[in-house]
Amino acid sequence: MSDKQKNVPNPTEKNASGNSMWGGRYAAGPSAIMTSINASIGFDKKLALYDIEGSIAHATMLGAKKIISSDDVKKITDGLNAIKTQIKAGSFQFTEELEDVHMNIEHHLTEVIGDAGRRLHTGRSRNDQVATDFKLWARDAFDYLDAQLKALQAALINQAEKHVDSVMPGLTHFQIAQPVSFAHHLLAYVEMLGRDRDRVMSARKRANECPLGAAALAGTPYPIDRAMTAKALGFDRPTANSLDSVSDRDFVMDYASAASIIMVHLSRLAEEIILWMNPQIGFITLGDQLTTGSSIMPQKRNPDAAELVRGKAGRVFGVLMQMLTLLKALPLAYAKDLQEDKEQTFMVAETLDLALSAMTAMVLDMKANTKAMKEAAALGFSTATDCADWLVRELQLPFRDAHHITGQIVKLAEDKNVPLHELKLQEMQSVEPRITARIFDVLSVEASMNSRTSLGGTAPVAVRAALSDGKKRFL
Ligand code: ARG
Repeated sequence: MSDKQKNVPNPTEKNASGNSMWGGRYAAGPSAIMTSINASIGFDKKLALYDIEGSIAHATMLGAKKIISSDDVKKITDGLNAIKTQIKAGSFQFTEELEDVHMNIEHHLTEVIGDAGRRLHTGRSRNDQVATDFKLWARDAFDYLDAQLKALQAALINQAEKHVDSVMPGLTHFQIAQPVSFAHHLLAYVEMLGRDRDRVMSARKRANECPLGAAALAGTPYPIDRAMTAKALGFDRPTANSLDSVSDRDFVMDYASAASIIMVHLSRLAEEIILWMNPQIGFITLGDQLTTGSSIMPQKRNPDAAELVRGKAGRVFGVLMQMLTLLKALPLAYAKDLQEDKEQTFMVAETLDLALSAMTAMVLDMKANTKAMKEAAALGFSTATDCADWLVRELQLPFRDAHHITGQIVKLAEDKNVPLHELKLQEMQSVEPRITARIFDVLSVEASMNSRTSLGGTAPVAVRAALSDGKKRFL
């Protein structure tokens, strides 16, 4: 990077002092470039409160097992709680020389409480410590995602309740296929988000095993009680294998993968909102607060928030690829590569927070133009299937024959440039003489929608059932 972009330390410049945490055998401190590439404090300070939680649990266990004195436990716990207060107040000074969040906190603790602070790291390593901190973070992140997904489901259900009887064109190949209820369309997303929540919560369950006590990679000779720390931190149990404990980042891949699938779903909905907003379609409008104007075209109302949700999907998918690549050839156990697991995962969490909040706000805000939807639902001979089904039902024709006859009727309507229900009975009879006027009962868009009463279908009676079922399952 050029000077204008960022100040990079001079690679030959040396740090004045060695590293007090691991510098025992080192005559000189690391070069500035070593400090710079090695430091994770710029992003892992986000783990500070989890780190303190983990350390308090660890110290308490060391005390209970008489590995350190109860006096030391008290000093450590009080000291860490004081640091927690400073961190929350934003007054704690993190420094790059102390590399990461673990060393920053431990160093500061030792400065304040003296020798007792130097006993905290007994029977653990930063390797199991960081895995524990990050799992605690991930657990909260999974819970937060679940709550946000639920809020979006609630918003969709709220809109759906207003539009059970609003008919819109259902599409296949982006061509008008059959009339459907707008509520039915919205409830499709409720199902997707339900699967997302399932993925999120099953990943949380898998992640909920405590690595603390695996130490560097092989376990520890101290008589630690891993079940005790696991319980104190709300984990279901300790992890079973020390090598796996410090090198497992499945929970990060799970997070990135669940997040990516969520972004696929949000991006699909965003795309639909963008299309529905286009005046040529005009199915919905969004208010002033969730759209933007143009600096040159005074008439514009742009769905920027939806576009940005669609646009941000890529950076989330990118992180999934990054995590897969990070782990794919990494021998056991810990390697510093794993430090690269955090920064972009935090970015994913921020992106999802924004994207889910924006989608929820848009869904709650959107006003449906039911007239435009209904008019569009009648385009493209959307009730042709109903015509064929009538021929099967009333004239006992095989479906394939009914399909062929209906095709000829559609051709007739197309030539005359009228919708199916505006053809005259005689015109239909010119194709199939046994057709009676009763066929007109099934050719309206409402009749078509109302007829699809099968389980999971679009008839209002089925949609009402799906709505009450959805509320029970998800809210
Ligand atoms: N900052 C490190 C990380 O995020 C913590 C673990 C460091 N372990 C070590 N052996 N250097 O992965």
